[in-house]
Amino acid sequence: MSGRKPLRLAIFASGRGSNAMAILLAVRSGRLPDVEPVLLVSDKEVAPVLEKVRQEGLEAVLFKPKTYPTKEEYERAILSLLKERGVEAIALAGYMRLVGSVLIGAFPDRILNIHPSLLPAFPGLHAQRQALEYGVRVTGVTVHFVDLLMDHGPVILQKSVPVYPEDTEETLTERLLPVEHETYIEALEGLSQGRLRISGRHVLWNFN
Ligand code: GAR
Repeated sequence: MSGRKPLRLAIFASGRGSNAMAILLAVRSGRLPDVEPVLLVSDKEVAPVLEKVRQEGLEAVLFKPKTYPTKEEYERAILSLLKERGVEAIALAGYMRLVGSVLIGAFPDRILNIHPSLLPAFPGLHAQRQALEYGVRVTGVTVHFVDLLMDHGPVILQKSVPVYPEDTEETLTERLLPVEHETYIEALEGLSQGRLRISGRHVLWNFN
């Protein structure tokens, strides 16, 4: 234990949930002593992540965007629960929806995202497929702060992964995922220890 008050984290996810589970298990194993996951939010009723994190004892709540008249009202509903739970930061972990001004305004420089490419290459959906179609020999993962644009905010960490001629979307995804998990954990470690400072597009790491 560091003696620091742990950062109360909400995880947002829309699907399989391997990044969400990696974060949760890193906390459970003592790897992220300054992070306290308090809630998972999903926008997809059928997302396997809901049941996976519940089995680990984490509260998981579904917010269906279509049941709200506007994106702002959808986000205000989420925000009200996040406030109730005392959430201080958000980790987007395969949350396949653009975060809007309500949540970004409420958590300035406190929302992180993971993306399976070396941004700014291959933003948006199917980053692995885009990398294969382009023919790159190296791709990777990016953890970045979230702003109003898609896969765009200041980069916290990037790690590269080779691409081989025989790769398929599946084999490349399999190679990327463990790197995603490790990179996200390292970025959250930095955030929770107060070591990240944003200066324009740059994230400065304080190693003292
Ligand atoms: C991950 O590959 C993540 O990087 C990607 O969705 C996948 C979710 O997997 N996110 C994006 O593409 C965001 N633009 P998971 O549900 O197993 O964590």
